[in-house]
Amino acid sequence: MKRVVSEQSSAAVSPDKLLKEAAATLADPSFSLDVITWQKQYGRHALPWQNTRDAYRVWLSEIMLQQTQVAAVIPYYLRFLETFPTVQSLAAASSEEVMSHWSGLGYYSRARNLHKCAQTIVTEYGGVFPSDPALLEQLTGIGRSTAAAISAFSYGTRAAILDGNVKRVFARVFGVERYPGEKAVENEMWLRAVALLPESDVEAYTQGLMDLGATLCTRNRPSCQRCPLAHRCVAYASGRTNELPVRKPKKAVPEKETTMLLIVDKNQVLLEQRPDKGIWGGLLSLPEIASETDGDATHFDAALALAIAPFGVSASLEKLPMFTHVFTHFKLHVTPYRIALARRLERAGQDNYVWYPADKMVDAPLPAPVKKLLLAVFREPDLLS
Ligand code: ADE
Repeated sequence: MKRVVSEQSSAAVSPDKLLKEAAATLADPSFSLDVITWQKQYGRHALPWQNTRDAYRVWLSEIMLQQTQVAAVIPYYLRFLETFPTVQSLAAASSEEVMSHWSGLGYYSRARNLHKCAQTIVTEYGGVFPSDPALLEQLTGIGRSTAAAISAFSYGTRAAILDGNVKRVFARVFGVERYPGEKAVENEMWLRAVALLPESDVEAYTQGLMDLGATLCTRNRPSCQRCPLAHRCVAYASGRTNELPVRKPKKAVPEKETTMLLIVDKNQVLLEQRPDKGIWGGLLSLPEIASETDGDATHFDAALALAIAPFGVSASLEKLPMFTHVFTHFKLHVTPYRIALARRLERAGQDNYVWYPADKMVDAPLPAPVKKLLLAVFREPDLLS
C-alpha cells in the first residue's frame, strides 16, 4: 500500500523554517534604529545599576525591578549592595538577613529566590554569572525576559526582552488587538521581539525599550508627541492609545438561582440562621429551596410543600417579583414566594429557625437584599395578608 502519510510529512515545512520566515517578515531594522537613537539622546543614563557590567549588580537590579518601580527600588538597591557587595556575601548571608533587607519591597518570593540563586552561582558557577540567557533562565527567579536583560546589560548578548512595558509598546505600535496575557499573543510578541533585535547596540536598544515604556508610552496619558515611534504607531494613528493594549477580559460572573420563602403567620415571618461558613454566614435569612427549572414543576412543588410542612398549613401561596443581588464573584437571582399560614405548627428540633416580628425587621441581622425585600413586603399592605 502506498504510504501517503510519509510523503506528506516529507513535504511538510519544518517549524524552524516557519519561525525563520515569520522572523523575516517581522524584521525591520529601522525600528531598533529609532529606539537606539532616541535612547542615546533622551533615555535614562544615570540609574544606579547603569554604567556597570558587573552581572551581580545587573542581576540584583533586574530582580528588584521585576514588579517594582524604579523610584522605589533605588534606595533598596543601594542599601542591599552596601550590605551584600558581592554574590559571595549574599550567598553566605542568613535568610533572615536577606529578608530583612528586602523588607518593604514586597513580593518576598523574589528575595527567597534571589538568595537561592546567589548560592547556585557560587556553588555551581564559581561566583560568575553565565552570559548565555538559556543558562540564566534556568536559575531560580529568572524568567526569559530577565535572563535577556541581564545578559544584554552584563555581556552585550543579543537577546530579546519582553516585559510588561515592552508588551504595551508593541501592542500600541503594531496595533495588537488581543490581550497580551494570552499565550498565543505573547508567543507572537516574542517572535516580534526577537525579529526586531538590532545587530549591535543591544544595550542601548534594550534600555531604550524599557525607557520608552516607563517614561513615554505609559499606561495612562502617553506622551506620543515626544515618542520616536509615533510615526509608525498604529494606536497613535488611529487614536486608540487608550484601548491598547487590550485589557484582560473580564471573566463571566457565575449566576446562581434560589427561591426564598416568606412564610408568614400573622405578623411574624419565619427566619433561618445561616451556617457560619459561606455567603451571609451566621446571619438570619429567609429559608431557601432550589429554584424551579424548566420542566421540573412537580419536583419544585414537592420541595415547596416539604419546606412548609414542618411549620404549618398554608392558606395561600404567591410568587413575588424576582430580583438579582450582585456579589463580587457571582450574581444571585432570587425568586421570593409569600406563603400565608392558615395554621402554625410549633415543633421541636428546629433550633435554627425563629419566628421574627415584622415590626422588628429593621434591626434584624439580615443580609441587605433580604432585609430590603422584607421591608418592602411589610410596608406594602397589599403584599401582606
Ligand atoms: N525595569 C526593568 N529593568 C530595568 C532597567 N534596567 N532600568 C530601568 N527600568 C527597568
